[in-house]
Amino acid sequence: MKRLSALAVLVSLAALPAFAQTPPSPLKSKEVFIRDLMQRMTLQEKIGQLRLISIGPEMTKPQIRQEIAAGNIGGTFNSVSRDENRPMQDAALRSRLKIPMFFAYDVIHGHRTIFPISLGLAASWDMDAIGLSAKVAAQEAAADSIDMTFGPMVDISRDARWGRTSEGFGEDTYLVSRIAKVMVDGFQGNDPAAPDHVMAAVKHFALYGAVEAGRDYNAVDMSPVRMYQDYLPPYRAALDAGAGGVMVALNSINGQPATSNKWLMQDLLRKDWGFKGVTISDHGAILELVKHGVAADGHEAAKLAIKAGIDMSMNDKVYGEQLPKLLASGEIQQRDIDNAVRDVLGAKYDMGLFADPYRRIGKAVDDPADINAESRLHREAARDVARKTLVLLKNDNHTLPLKKQGSIALIGPLANAPIDMMGSWSAAGIPEQSVTVLQGLRDAVGDKAKILYAKGANVSDDPRVLAFLNHIILDRKEVEIDPRPAADMIAEAVKVAQSADVIVAAVGESRGMSHESASRSTLDIPAPQRALLDALKATGKPLVLVLMNGRPLALEPQLQQSDALLETWFAGTEGGHAIADVLFGDYNPSGKLPMTFPRSVGQVPVYYNYLSIGRPFVPGEQPNYRSQYFDQEPGPQLPFGYGLSYTDFKLSDITLSSPTMKRGGTLEASVTLSNTGERDGATVVQLYLRDVAASLAQPVKQLKNFQKVMLKAGESRTLHFTLSEDDLKFYNSQLKYADEPGQFLVQIGLDSADVKQQSFVLQ
Ligand code: BGC
Repeated sequence: MKRLSALAVLVSLAALPAFAQTPPSPLKSKEVFIRDLMQRMTLQEKIGQLRLISIGPEMTKPQIRQEIAAGNIGGTFNSVSRDENRPMQDAALRSRLKIPMFFAYDVIHGHRTIFPISLGLAASWDMDAIGLSAKVAAQEAAADSIDMTFGPMVDISRDARWGRTSEGFGEDTYLVSRIAKVMVDGFQGNDPAAPDHVMAAVKHFALYGAVEAGRDYNAVDMSPVRMYQDYLPPYRAALDAGAGGVMVALNSINGQPATSNKWLMQDLLRKDWGFKGVTISDHGAILELVKHGVAADGHEAAKLAIKAGIDMSMNDKVYGEQLPKLLASGEIQQRDIDNAVRDVLGAKYDMGLFADPYRRIGKAVDDPADINAESRLHREAARDVARKTLVLLKNDNHTLPLKKQGSIALIGPLANAPIDMMGSWSAAGIPEQSVTVLQGLRDAVGDKAKILYAKGANVSDDPRVLAFLNHIILDRKEVEIDPRPAADMIAEAVKVAQSADVIVAAVGESRGMSHESASRSTLDIPAPQRALLDALKATGKPLVLVLMNGRPLALEPQLQQSDALLETWFAGTEGGHAIADVLFGDYNPSGKLPMTFPRSVGQVPVYYNYLSIGRPFVPGEQPNYRSQYFDQEPGPQLPFGYGLSYTDFKLSDITLSSPTMKRGGTLEASVTLSNTGERDGATVVQLYLRDVAASLAQPVKQLKNFQKVMLKAGESRTLHFTLSEDDLKFYNSQLKYADEPGQFLVQIGLDSADVKQQSFVLQ
């Protein structure tokens, strides 16, 4: 992590308000400063620093301030304005040692301006766009006095049933690792102490995306090779980029919960990876060690967690209640507590809070008059990023782009759904400021065309589903249900459709369906929406589907019945405008799927980089005694990396600079990409590698590089990819990261399935 030099700290200290006159100690080097401070702390004050509370109904605000002033709280989350946080910081500065608080929040894909959900961001394959989204989010969060975000969330997910798939960046280790770095850079800038940046706490460490059967909070059981090869690199990439914090996962790993996992938290994170920042438990996770069945009670849970190296306890009192007793009984040592306190104070130092506790809170006179003011939003950035995340999955007979003329029937429960447009974990975004598909289409056509609207169906009509959706977020009704009979709603929609030239149907999931704890046992579009689509299809009008969803869905029927299909995820504050930009061709779609889309839930987990096996299914050969499901077409519905454009791209064969690579050397693979269509457009050229024979079975292909390229109509460009020995390495059975000589295949394509191929030998 990049840090303020001691001089810079002292210079900034000179310009400080009240606190500057009475700092706990002159700001020396971080180490000396913290050591001096810790020498003056009581046990109670130390344990207070380890408590991270949520601002919520559990405690009143005066109670919270009282606890802070007594030195019993180290940080909070879920308060998101300067005037909320200032009194808490004032209280901290009334405490005996005046140790500042830090204020955290889940800034996942935007803060006030909401960008597309993370899975959508990944679909852009555009590192500049993703970085911009994190930078804007950090600026807005810092302007609201947030010091730390609980992000990025970089859990690899290969199981679309898992609702938190929406929160991560997809299935691929290489892509997610690249994004992890870009997100941390965007959040933290050059320095997490910068007043317009926030510290990143990468989560959920580790392997949370691999919960068994995609059921949230379930156990994870995984071989070490798979962990090291596929699941751990994105966390590592975030830490190498300097992320100052780590949030610990809720799951167990091979029987040991992450929260009590010494191997994970000490051997791997601290010793092997050299992490020096702060670790934070997830919500209530320390006490959950009792339910995991590895601790008899809170006493033992606190012992296991502090011994494992969990610095801060999120939203419970367990450390405060148990650590003094554990210390008195000799079950833990003073150094266990001190190590944790040192990390918390270190993070506060790195966030610049000792130099200026009001760094991001500012002065009351400068507080925004209206926290939700339009002027505080970054709509242009949100629209530009959102357009890049949309993936065109089908477009027969040039159905898209639509013309801005005649009449367009916009139908579906997600056509006018401002809450859903923002996606889950939408931080401090408010639905009133998000642009729906309806609004986006209307703004795009003005008076050139008529937009006719009907809801057509409810998102779901399953009482169990609706009860769940309206329960998870308590402060408002997530899903508004139209009480009319389904048949009446469909009849109305069909009438509207019949009077239009083309139908645009906005269907999929409500945002609560792709959220924490929202695992699904099917991946279908819910039944009432399917019935609506059948009825719309029967009108014979061209049918364009605009999908909103936070996970891969099983889209076989929809791919059959639609003329065009645009995957839009949950596209954020400017979603409706971005969708209209693509539907009308003001932006040529360039997104590519960051996850494989299955044919049915029965294929899950399904991902492109599966291991080679002895009896693979081979197209064209007899299928018996081959690895497949006999009752379904083999292979996924849509491959990883897939996405169409309004123009056509062609790739040449691959040229390699040499048929061999020497150890320590490099090799260049070149292809020529041509835009053979009639529009300018961008696409993603993807490079995959396969190690043909190794000491352990290797994936059939692995993404190793990509370039997002914009070409004018008719333009061609030769692209060069440099392969190095590092690209050929894998974790062997001794968990050594090494390569082995032999043959490798290089595959380059515009998706993971349709590739050109060459081979070379590593000597
Ligand atoms: C989630 C975390 C989140 C925390 C605080 C937990 O339920 O698992 O991802 O950061 O809540 O909001």
